[in-house]
Amino acid sequence: MKLIGPFAQILTLTGLPDRGALADSQLRIVPDGGVLTDTHHVVEVGAFRELKQRWPQAEIEARDGTETLLPGFIDAHTHICWAGSRAGDFALRNAGHSYLEIAARGGGIWSTVQHTRQAGFDILVSSVKERAIRHMREGVTTIEVKSGYGLSVEQELRQLRAIREASRQENGPRLVPTCLAAHMKPRDFEGSAQEYLNVLVHELLPQIAYEHLSGRVDIFVEQTAFDAAQAGSYLQAASELGFDVLVHADQFTAAGSAVAVECGAVSADHLEASGTEEINRLAASDTVAVALPGASLGLGMAFAPARKLLDAGASLAIASDWNPGSAPMGQLLAQSAILAAYEKLSTAEGLAALTVRAARALRISNAGMIHPGFTADLVAWPTPDYREILYSMGQMRPSQVWKSSFACF
Ligand code: NIG
Ligand code: FE
Repeated sequence: MKLIGPFAQILTLTGLPDRGALADSQLRIVPDGGVLTDTHHVVEVGAFRELKQRWPQAEIEARDGTETLLPGFIDAHTHICWAGSRAGDFALRNAGHSYLEIAARGGGIWSTVQHTRQAGFDILVSSVKERAIRHMREGVTTIEVKSGYGLSVEQELRQLRAIREASRQENGPRLVPTCLAAHMKPRDFEGSAQEYLNVLVHELLPQIAYEHLSGRVDIFVEQTAFDAAQAGSYLQAASELGFDVLVHADQFTAAGSAVAVECGAVSADHLEASGTEEINRLAASDTVAVALPGASLGLGMAFAPARKLLDAGASLAIASDWNPGSAPMGQLLAQSAILAAYEKLSTAEGLAALTVRAARALRISNAGMIHPGFTADLVAWPTPDYREILYSMGQMRPSQVWKSSFACF
């Protein structure tokens, strides 16, 4: 047993409703707190002095009493397995060309597919590892990582195998792989979009299940990708094979969140173009709404209607969407602080969206809170006041990150 502390404040993120608006007064804060852990899990949380008396045998990992302890952040949406750069796209967009227009001309996702296919397996693995470690130093201990830059059966398997290899790095964050082979119809596929999806269902998904490469399947519903009807039958087939399903929804046009809800998706991500109907539908469902402020910043577009989603009663997570095209910045904390400032999110709503509510989007039931039995993924921040963390707008870095080696997916 190890007793870590004292901390000026421990925010446990426990006892919060799964959905809807939150006030900061709902946050449970343990002052002068300590956390008792075994190798992998939290055993107890409470006043440091009292825990020390009750557990005299515990090894003490001493802190100086001036920090705030939070559960590790959970980034429920990234595309960090890629090679190459899209600086050219960024420059073109800023010169007035749209994301969809650049994609239609052969830039966009397809250009990253070509670079990623050409990159050696080891390069892919090391680039995922490096990005994952950078994220962990910024307080993120669980990272969802999508494929989607392979876009053939073999190349998608290669990406997922690279993500699995990267997830084995010692002292790295936990990676949650997702199959996004339905990112767009590959330009070199001879056949229709529907025929491409059929190949995925019959050849790719069974192999992914066989190799345990991923338990999640995502699809991009958009003019340049797949339509809602195609997504509906693809996601139904994926569900029947045992996958959790999710959707890149309502990014440029309000198409995707309806099919996400209909298919019982774990999350609907993006939502920048969602209107009242989409918001109410999501709020009435168990599908977690995932806002991706980094894509709004990278594309210079509106943010997802996070305030309206919460007020309607939806469950909101915030994720980075880190990818070479629409969201090159990473930096989940900075993105979240910017979204909070624009959308008027309380600190409690922001922190829940990065922890307990993000865990729901990934269906992880033992991370995102500091609570007995939960993984000991803990992050100490160098401030005695939790509000300073988002207020730093990404400048503050953790003073310490503890990552449990317990596999929770
Ligand atoms: O979530 N919208 C689709 N997919 C990614 C972008 C991927 C890319 O541009 O390479 C996104 O924004
Ligand atoms: Fe994305």
